[in-house]
Amino acid sequence: MDIKTIAAPLHEQNVDAVIAFLFDDNELHSAAKALDEALNGALTELIEVGDLSGEAGQVFTFYPRGAIAARRVIVVGFGDVSEFNAEALRRAAALGLKRARTLKAASVAITIAGTGRGGLSLTNAAQAIVEGGLLGLYRYQGYKSKADEENNDNPQSITLCVYDDADITAAEQGVHIGRAMAEGAAFTRDLVNLPPNVCTPPYLAQAATEMAAEVGLKITVLEKHQMEALKMGALLAVAQGSDTPPRFIILEHNAGRASELPTVVLVGKGVTFDTGGYNIKTGEGMRSMRADMGGAAAVIGAMRIIARLDIPLHVVGLAPAADNMISGNAYRPSEVITASNGKTIEIVSTDAEGRLLLADALVYAARYKPAAVVDIATLTGSCIIALGTAAAGLFSIDDTLRDKLLASGEATGERLWQLPLFPEYSKTIETPNADMLNSPGNRFAGVGASAAFLRNFVDYPAWAHIDMAGKMQHDKDNPYDPGPFASGYGARLLAEFVRSWAQ
Ligand code: BES
Ligand code: ZN
Ligand code: ZN
Repeated sequence: MDIKTIAAPLHEQNVDAVIAFLFDDNELHSAAKALDEALNGALTELIEVGDLSGEAGQVFTFYPRGAIAARRVIVVGFGDVSEFNAEALRRAAALGLKRARTLKAASVAITIAGTGRGGLSLTNAAQAIVEGGLLGLYRYQGYKSKADEENNDNPQSITLCVYDDADITAAEQGVHIGRAMAEGAAFTRDLVNLPPNVCTPPYLAQAATEMAAEVGLKITVLEKHQMEALKMGALLAVAQGSDTPPRFIILEHNAGRASELPTVVLVGKGVTFDTGGYNIKTGEGMRSMRADMGGAAAVIGAMRIIARLDIPLHVVGLAPAADNMISGNAYRPSEVITASNGKTIEIVSTDAEGRLLLADALVYAARYKPAAVVDIATLTGSCIIALGTAAAGLFSIDDTLRDKLLASGEATGERLWQLPLFPEYSKTIETPNADMLNSPGNRFAGVGASAAFLRNFVDYPAWAHIDMAGKMQHDKDNPYDPGPFASGYGARLLAEFVRSWAQ
């Protein structure tokens, strides 16, 4: 996609479609006003007759018939000006560009709206338009034996219009950030959408390796014997039931400056398929479990964004990857295993496997003497019971870290909601047979117990855990989250968080 920024009026663009925006108070300002004048008052008339309302989600198309150079005019409703933010702009941009695609418009021009009365900076507005637009136009290519003609109809060029030359630098900065964010999230979506026979731990490692070469990240991939040498008994217990070997993926941004820059470590659960193991899931429960590597995919996508934006921190992305399967060698309930920090774990449920991968990865994170560690995982059904699909759950032992994560959730629209780390939850995983159980015997506060479990492997002051089980699948009501399956949740959130940590 060719995206350029120019200082010229929207109505002068000779393109297949121009996209303008309107608040629901129907006031025409700046670019929309100039467009209306160039159209001999067509917008005013459409508002007067009541066809154009500016309500959030309205997409109105009409044909200027020579009044301006563009062949179509698309007006997208912004809704209420007092509720406007970057999220509203991302959604509106996605709606406008998707309409342009439906109409087979190859060239599109958009005004960078949302700055004046919308209150966004030019950079933030340009970012939101590009980010929302590209995320909305996302398509998963899949494995149809005949290439899908429909999949090649995205607009070829987008021209962003600003008022004067002095605005171009700020807008282009936003375009750069928005594009990096959207491409990173698309990378995450692609990985999660892939079927589990394709996206195995070795595949995930290979995809990360190719991505790392493309954007200039350092990558190290540990194989099974290296995990054995590190005594990663928790991760290996999960992996041993599968014929497909595990991988431990380590991505590093600014590896050469590790000693001079603060380090942030991101950790993502990479269960490439979760059958539940001997505590086997139901058919229904297994249906979405190809997305059980959504945390790992979020970290890999975030690292791609972090590299593209060249964030001035030493950032490490850890993605422990394994299949959770059944076989003659699979781990069983009642087994006691030992994690890489020497702590012993009695298995209650082989379906509580994600926390076992995370345990060894959280121990590994300590070697970087990190300023902050954030893990993200599709960890518990219990979190979905608590929060639904409205937000991911957030646990944190550090308030600064928590606040930056919550703010990043708001900024990206990838919402987080804090849940408690009550000491009672640690009690529920006590056992006479080992240092802890991998899950409590009852169904109460399963999400709290999972966080209490993870804390046993944390040996640094600032750690947070994100349970994204409710957010792994796309939201059909969000125009920039088109699916077909994965949301790409977490990539933008983590990248924005790292950006905020660098400030
Ligand atoms: N991957 C699942 C959690 C999950 C469930 C994610 C549904 C997304 C949608 C996880 O490994 C799991 O099975 N957790 C168990 C834990 C229980 C055995 C303590 C759960 O949530 O039921
Ligand atoms: Zn499980
Ligand atoms: Zn799982």
